[in-house]
Amino acid sequence: MIYDRKPLPTTLTGTLTHSVAPSNIALIKYWGKRDATLQWPANDSLSMTLSQARTETWATIAGDGVDRVSLLGSAFSENQAAKALRHLNYLRERTGFTQRLHVETWNSFPASAGIASSASGFAALTLAAIGAWSGAHSLEHMATLGYGPSTLANLARRGSGSACRSLHGGFVHWEAGESPESQSVTSLASASHWDLCDLIVVFSQQAKAVGSTEAHEFAKTSPLFQPRLAALPERLHIVRRAVQTRDFAALGREVEAEALEMHSVMMTSTPSVHYMSPASSRFLAALRKSRHELGTPAYFTMDAGPNVHVLCERRCADQVLEAIQALATDAAENQNFSIIQDAIGTGPSVHKTEVPLRC
Ligand code: PMV
Repeated sequence: MIYDRKPLPTTLTGTLTHSVAPSNIALIKYWGKRDATLQWPANDSLSMTLSQARTETWATIAGDGVDRVSLLGSAFSENQAAKALRHLNYLRERTGFTQRLHVETWNSFPASAGIASSASGFAALTLAAIGAWSGAHSLEHMATLGYGPSTLANLARRGSGSACRSLHGGFVHWEAGESPESQSVTSLASASHWDLCDLIVVFSQQAKAVGSTEAHEFAKTSPLFQPRLAALPERLHIVRRAVQTRDFAALGREVEAEALEMHSVMMTSTPSVHYMSPASSRFLAALRKSRHELGTPAYFTMDAGPNVHVLCERRCADQVLEAIQALATDAAENQNFSIIQDAIGTGPSVHKTEVPLRC
């Protein structure tokens, strides 16, 4: 269930910077930080940028000299609004721009439910703010003004780590590096390299009880955390090679093991965090059974929420969709669920737009 209308801001008019930033799904997860203040991850991660699940954000210089952020169609929680305002302060500090902004934002999918709304949200906020301050009318223009993808990724990362991967399309590698300053975000392959789909089974639209910012901090208390870090370089190598050679079975095997391992770290940390729900857990087992017994060509992954991302190749998407509709119906046991049909995407965009005064 993607809200696929063309959204228009309701509180802003005039010439606005409009940014569109996609969400991304991590194939190798970022879980745990070496330094929370500097947003330095414990490990490298690798993601696929999506196309349908996205955040659109509009920004303009504030006439009244006061920052204002609002969410189109619903209300920001106090915590979300505070995080967005803090990010604007951080961006001003880092860039030297001083003006306050009015910002309105919209998600095409339910936020805070493990579909990485913080990734698309902070990527879109960073792009809209830099666009409004610098006057850039496109990403290319922004790059000529000193805000290329690397600089933007570094800025967006401070709002939410995974946001830095939403600045590129296709398959994206966030390297932790040897120091907080040497981390980097690079494109491993473009969206046209491999047409993969991500069918997102949404079992719950509720905001999660423990946010990922908080839960990252618990990771290091898990006895499974250090063994995980030690084994990750090998897994990253396999996943990179599977992407490069388009080996779907090799990719799927590692991606499933990776998701389960991250959730095991979450569940064995102190305090422990359970993002998996009974319905999602039933669904994972059923998908594996369907693959083994019927050859359903699909693999799962999950982020910090109860919803399940089912990966498949485009040519099998109809078959997989039909299969998972039946599996999810059983797993949900009379509860509602929906499926977002998403796929690999080409990355963010920025432009200027005119929104006329409404009477
Ligand atoms: O960017 P954050 O702080 O929301 O952390 C994201 C963590 C996961 O989504 C669970 C994994 C990832 O790499 O995206």
